[in-house]
Amino acid sequence: MGKEIHVHGGVSLQGRVRIQGSKNAALPILAAALLTKEENVLCNCPRITDVFRMLDLLRSIGCLVRWEEQGVCVDAGHVSLSRLPADAVMGMRSSLCLLGALLGRCGEAAMEHPGGCVIGERPIDLHLSALRRMGVDFWEEEGLLHARAARGLSGAELRLPIPSVGATENIILAAVCAQGDTRLQGCAREPEVEALCRYLVCCGARIDGIGTGELVIRGGKRLFGTSFRIPADRIVAGTYLFGTLAAGGCAMLEEAPCSQMEAVISLARDLGAVCQAAKEGLWVQAPRRLRHVPLVRTKEYPGFPTDLQSIAMTVLSGAPGTSRIEENIFEDRFRVVEPLSRMGADLRQLSARQVIVQGPRRLKGQRVEAVELRGGAALVVAGLMARGETVITGCPYIERGYENICKDLRELGARIYCV
Ligand code: EPZ
Repeated sequence: MGKEIHVHGGVSLQGRVRIQGSKNAALPILAAALLTKEENVLCNCPRITDVFRMLDLLRSIGCLVRWEEQGVCVDAGHVSLSRLPADAVMGMRSSLCLLGALLGRCGEAAMEHPGGCVIGERPIDLHLSALRRMGVDFWEEEGLLHARAARGLSGAELRLPIPSVGATENIILAAVCAQGDTRLQGCAREPEVEALCRYLVCCGARIDGIGTGELVIRGGKRLFGTSFRIPADRIVAGTYLFGTLAAGGCAMLEEAPCSQMEAVISLARDLGAVCQAAKEGLWVQAPRRLRHVPLVRTKEYPGFPTDLQSIAMTVLSGAPGTSRIEENIFEDRFRVVEPLSRMGADLRQLSARQVIVQGPRRLKGQRVEAVELRGGAALVVAGLMARGETVITGCPYIERGYENICKDLRELGARIYCV
């Protein structure tokens, strides 16, 4: 994708598009491949920059990586290093799951502190406290976070105070290699955590309670390479679902994981859409006029996903009446309020966690800048519904999570291109 996205709004969508593999399932599964010594074939792995960067990290510690027609092959037979190159880790929060994988494989790890980003401070206290309980010592040296399980990893009774996705994944990655069993209560139930567990079971791990808030992970099993299909990305599917509501028209979202999108489909229906879960994916028909929705609250899965909050805000700006958006997961995920307001949306930010949307407003195309992934996708959706042309810069943020958002939306009839 080039450095600018140009969207000519006011064109209703019609067509079908295949939904790519899930970024947030692929990233922890790529890290988990480190726990095997044979080749892994990950089908439907999305070709996005966060995946490319994760693959570079795996290569940097000795893994063999190659793309094939059906997906990516990762062979971690020879892991030589446990220290991750600083530049590759910085700014990529999802590299944090390499911590658990490296501890599982090598018993130690060293990495830049994957600091916060624009959507929030992104602390890692829950990761560290749980792994300490499993026998890991942490210390800072030359600005790097060092970890070592001097006497090996041991299973533990753990409880997360908040169902952190990343902490849950790191604990699972360490626990499958630990001596003894780990019981994890209060864990995240996101489908991406479930996919990680199913991949590890395919490699020979024993995990009970998959998909629930309590996991029992049997440690010490030898894990073998496997082939595994990355499930479709529910957030990309939700992006195009709301994009269809924004532009009007209808679309078939092939392979959309409907069973993982209940809260998203429910909001679309409240907005007046007809949504039909079919074998091949999700069919959506936009209403002629959006209906009023008084409140959207983000929650941990199965609640409404924080990753679609900015995109929902965009659509709500075109719906009648007053709507309140509550962001309950991250403390600063309203960066899109400024550019959306410049496009004509009537938004009032009451606090770090609440925005009031007044509609309906007809957005007007502007030159706007993406400063993070999902806010960038929300600006693309805004371009679909705005009058005139919208130019979006900061495309590298969008490319972190979308293989080719312009091509996908063009397949639905949108007048959008990248230069
Ligand atoms: C994952 O981030 C996703 N990223 C995020 O998607 C997603 O928004 C988030 O889960 C919530 O669903 C990946 O899977 C790569 P958390 P993660 O740990 O693991 C606090 C996208 O757009 N917390 O569940 O970082 C934290 O500050 C990205 O694809 C602690 O306080 O999310 C946040 O407020 C954005 N201490 C809340 O928990 C900790 O040690 C949820 O964070 C860890 C987290």
